[in-house]
Amino acid sequence: MKTLLYILALSSILFANADTASCKKCHPLIVAEFETSMHKKSSIYEDKVHKAVWDLHPAKAKGDYKCAKCHTPNATTAEEEHEGITCISCHTIMDVEKHAQANKNVYLKKPKTFFSAEPGRESQKVEYKQVTSWFGMNKTTVGSAYHDIDYTNEKFYNGEMCMGCHSHKQNSHEFSVCTTDEAGAKDKKSNCITCHMPKVDGSATTVVKTKQHAYHGFAGARVKPEMLSQYVELNFNNKQKGFEVIIDNKAPHNLMTHPLRVVQLRTVLVRDAKQIALKTHTFVKVIGKDGKPSMPWIATEVVKDTMIKANEKRVVEFDETLKAGDKIEVKLGFFVVNPKVLKKLNLQDDKELTKFTTLKSTHFNVE
Ligand code: HEC
Ligand code: HEC
Ligand code: HEC
Ligand code: HEC
Ligand code: HEC
Repeated sequence: MKTLLYILALSSILFANADTASCKKCHPLIVAEFETSMHKKSSIYEDKVHKAVWDLHPAKAKGDYKCAKCHTPNATTAEEEHEGITCISCHTIMDVEKHAQANKNVYLKKPKTFFSAEPGRESQKVEYKQVTSWFGMNKTTVGSAYHDIDYTNEKFYNGEMCMGCHSHKQNSHEFSVCTTDEAGAKDKKSNCITCHMPKVDGSATTVVKTKQHAYHGFAGARVKPEMLSQYVELNFNNKQKGFEVIIDNKAPHNLMTHPLRVVQLRTVLVRDAKQIALKTHTFVKVIGKDGKPSMPWIATEVVKDTMIKANEKRVVEFDETLKAGDKIEVKLGFFVVNPKVLKKLNLQDDKELTKFTTLKSTHFNVE
C-alpha cells in the first residue's frame, strides 16, 4: 500500500508538468522525431514564418495572441507560449466540436490517461497494474507505469483528431483563410495519420518492444516532404502536336493547403544533348480583397485559385512538338513562402524559405 501511495504521489508530481521531457525516458525515438516536427516548432519562438505573419497582425499591438488555440494549445501563461504543441495536446483530445470560425478540441480532463490507436485493441482501456501470480513469484506488468491508455477513441483511427486544428480557420470577415477537406479524416485505412505518420522502424517504447512505431516528425511541406512523394504521380502523354504532363494528386486535400505556399512544375526538354527550359507552370491559391492579394486578416475572397485539388489529375499542356530521341525532365516542387510575399514578411534573406523544394521528379523518353 505504501508503495502504491508513493507511485501515485510520484505520478502526480510528474503530471504537474507532464511535458515532452517526461515522455523521453520510455519513448525516446518518438520524442526525438517530435523535436524535429513543425508541431514542436509551432510557436513564434521557433517558427520564423509564423512569427513574421504574427508581427504584422493587428492583434499583436493589443497583446491578444489569438493563435494560441492551435499553435500553443497548452499555454495558460506567457511562459508556456514558448512551448508549441505537445504530446498532451494531441493524446488527450477526446472529441472535436464543429464550429463555423474554427473547430474546437475537447480535451479529456482525467489525468494520466492518453488516447491512442492500435488495430486489434480498439475496445481496450489499459490501466496500469502489476499482476502477481498466486504464489507471488512472477510479477507481470500490464500497461505503462506512467499512464493509462484508452484505445477506444475512433478519432485516433480515422484521423478526425487532427481536424480540431486543421479543418478550417475563418478571419473576422467570416472568410475561410485555409481549409483541409474532411474527406481525409473518415477512412481507417487511409487518412491524415496513415500518410503523415507512417509506420517507421524502431520501438515505440523502451519498455514493451515493438518493431515499428508511428512517425512523429509529421511529414509535410517543411519536414521530410520526400516521405509524401509517393502520393503524387507525374505522367506523360505525347501528342501529334505538343504533349501533356499529368499531375496526379492522391492526397484527399489541396496539394498545398496553406495560402503562403506556391507549387511549380518545371520542365526541361533535352534534345541533341542541349537542355531547353520550357514554361514553368505555377499553382497557387491566393486570398485577398477587391481582386488584390492581401494578408489573411484582411481577405474577403479567393483572388486566384489554380491550386491542384484533392485527388485531382491536372493535365498541363505544352506546345512543343517532340521527336524520337527527345527526353522530357519534369520536377514538381514548391516554395514554403510565396516569393512575392517574402519581402513583406522580411524573410527575403532566409535560405531555407527562399529555396525551391522538389517533391517529385522524373523523366520521359520520347520514342
Ligand atoms: C515509465 C515509462 C513511460 C513513460 C514515462 C511514458 N510512457 Fe507512454 N507508454 C509506456 C509503455 C510501457 C507503453 C505501452 C503499453 C502497452 O503497449 O500496453 C506506453 C504507451 C503509450 C501510448 C500508446 C501506445 C500504443 O500502444 O498505441 C501513448 C500514446 C503514450 N504511451 C504516450 C506517452 C506520453 C505522451 C508520455 C509523456 C507525457 C508517456 N507516454 C510517458 C511507458 C511510458
Ligand atoms: C493542437 C492543434 C493541432 C493538432 C491536433 C494537429 N495539428 Fe498539425 N499542425 C498544427 C499547427 C498549428 C501547425 C503549423 C505549425 C507551424 O508551422 O508553425 C501544424 C502543422 C502540421 C504539419 C506540417 C505542415 C507543413 O507544412 O510542414 C503536418 C503534416 C500536420 N500538422 C499534420 C497533422 C496531423 C496528421 C495531425 C493529426 C494526427 C495533426 N497535424 C494534428 C496544429 C495541429
Ligand atoms: C484553428 C487553428 C489555427 C489557428 C487559430 C491559427 N492557426 Fe496558423 N496554422 C494552423 C495549422 C493547422 C497550420 C498548418 C496548416 C497548413 O500548413 O496547411 C498553420 C500554419 C500557419 C502558418 C504557416 C507556417 C509554416 O509552417 O510555414 C502561419 C504563418 C500561421 N499558421 C499563422 C497563424 C497566425 C499568425 C495565427 C494567429 C493570428 C494563426 N496562425 C492561428 C492552425 C491555426
Ligand atoms: C493519401 C495521403 C494523404 C492523406 C490521407 C492526407 N495527406 Fe496531407 N499531404 C499529403 C501530400 C502528398 C502532401 C503534399 C506534400 C508535402 O506537403 O510535402 C500533404 C500535405 C499536407 C500538409 C502541408 C500542406 C501545406 O500547405 O503546408 C498538411 C498540413 C497536411 N497535408 C495535413 C493533412 C491532414 C490534416 C489530413 C487529414 C484530413 C491529411 N493531410 C491527409 C498526403 C496526404
Ligand atoms: C499531432 C498529434 C500528436 C502529437 C503532438 C503526438 N502524438 Fe503520439 N500519436 C498520435 C497519433 C494519431 C497516434 C496513433 C498513430 C497510430 O497508431 O497509427 C500516436 C501514437 C503514439 C504512440 C504509439 C506509437 C505506435 O506506433 O504504437 C506513442 C507511444 C506516442 N504516440 C507517444 C507520443 C509522444 C511521447 C509524443 C510527444 C513527444 C506524442 N506522441 C505526440 C498523435 C500525436
